[in-house]
Amino acid sequence: MSEPNRREFLKTGAAAVAGAAAVGALRGEADASAQAAYSGEFKAPPIDLVRIGYVGVGLQGGSHVQNLIRIPGCRITAVCDIRAERTDWATKQITGAGHPAPAVYNKGPRDFERLCATEDLDLVYTATPWEWHVPVLLAAMKNGKHAATEVPAAMTIDDCWAMVETAEKQRKHCVLMENCNYDRPEMMAYHMVRQGLFGEILHAEGGYLHDLRGIKFENKDEGLWRRAWSMKLNGNPYPTHGLGPIAHSLDINRGDRFDYLVSMSTLSRGLQNWAVDHFPPDAPQRQEKFVLGDVNTSLIKTVNGKTIMVQHCTNLPRPYSRIHKVQGTKGLFEGYPHRAYIEGRGRADQWVDAAALYPEFEHPLWKEIAAQAQGAGHGGMDFIEDYRLIKCLREGAPLDQTVYDAAALSAVVELSVRSVAHAGQPVPVPDFSRGRWRTTPPLGILHM
Ligand SMILES: NC(=O)c1ccc[n+]([C@@H]2O[C@H](COP(=O)([O-])OP(=O)(O)OC[C@H]3O[C@@H](n4cnc5c(N)ncnc54)[C@H](O)[C@@H]3O)[C@@H](O)[C@H]2O)c1
Repeated sequence: MSEPNRREFLKTGAAAVAGAAAVGALRGEADASAQAAYSGEFKAPPIDLVRIGYVGVGLQGGSHVQNLIRIPGCRITAVCDIRAERTDWATKQITGAGHPAPAVYNKGPRDFERLCATEDLDLVYTATPWEWHVPVLLAAMKNGKHAATEVPAAMTIDDCWAMVETAEKQRKHCVLMENCNYDRPEMMAYHMVRQGLFGEILHAEGGYLHDLRGIKFENKDEGLWRRAWSMKLNGNPYPTHGLGPIAHSLDINRGDRFDYLVSMSTLSRGLQNWAVDHFPPDAPQRQEKFVLGDVNTSLIKTVNGKTIMVQHCTNLPRPYSRIHKVQGTKGLFEGYPHRAYIEGRGRADQWVDAAALYPEFEHPLWKEIAAQAQGAGHGGMDFIEDYRLIKCLREGAPLDQTVYDAAALSAVVELSVRSVAHAGQPVPVPDFSRGRWRTTPPLGILHM
């Protein structure tokens, strides 16, 4: 965005800017020495055997436990959940894999603080409900542990800054575990982008379009907490599955960064209609009031002038999609169904199905690891992300995602809410890296 345009934007978006400033969106006067010590590609000393405390061993945490017990070079030595049946379950998985029984923390919703303060661990990894991610991450880092979290990392801008400032001060990793970065089509698309097949990338789209109505109304698992967010937040509460892979293809925080965002939501109808169709007239669920617009659409402009569309739709009947479009001057990749078009290759105006592209363009990491990942959560991508995390920690290498990625991608939650509330006005995205995005190198091609 050129400077005159920026001034114009600041003028037209003045109300939104003022609002954002009020919630700390323009913060960033972090401790200079802490920031200086923490490079954009932060590396920590190598760890021979990564000792892990796992917090929140429900559906997704349970799936990570099952991955981690078969990844070489790590041990889950402590587990924490508010439900004893889940810590029992996790203990059984760990001992069943031939590892020593973990220390157990199941004495209430803040018992993770005791885990972080007591246990000698290298990493605390959480798959708790969204509201607990940041408390766990901060407790971990303040007690000298690296921290990893399920998505999104944070729900507010203030919490995004808290993650960044704590990671810099404590010199710890704080990583958003975005599994969709490691799915087979997304990795192939990224590999093709790196080979220049689509030319200069100008635009990308992603999203989380998944009919969760039944799940949100269950009396267990995500039904216990995810529906509640649909009552208090109108924007995009879950932007990272769509944004993660396209952020890599656009070099976000590695030469470019999100500049500003506009967002709009539809009316909220899906959950109310579901309650009427599935519960008797006197059921409390039929009295619930939802604010989350059924389709939320945000547009992000990057500093280098690229555009991104990110969508959220979890309350309406529809097939699953994360969209995953990456478009450049010579062609594009598009997901669901996965396909590509490259000018000058194949027939004009005709998509080429991903199946025909894998033999030539499969990402090397997928080729190397596919057999091991088979059968793991979400088609194997969860295993690959866990494998990469442990490998990088063991080697003392930079992680695939930085704390600045965790903050920038998660910030879209509150920024979309603020734009929706102000008739779609632009809101600036904070520069969480305070300029480091200019010098942090592109991700490159990952290997096993
Ligand atoms: N990446 C993905 O594809 C994916 C898929 C599903 C869920 N998730 C994410 O994983 C997280 C958990 O989702 P889920 O589906 O496993 O939900 P879940 O409800 O099945 O699991 C959450 C677990 O956390 C426990 N818990 C709640 N509060 C706690 C606290 N204060 N301390 C310790 N434990 C606590 C619960 O008892 C439960 O076992 C969410 O952030 C969600 O967005 C990601």
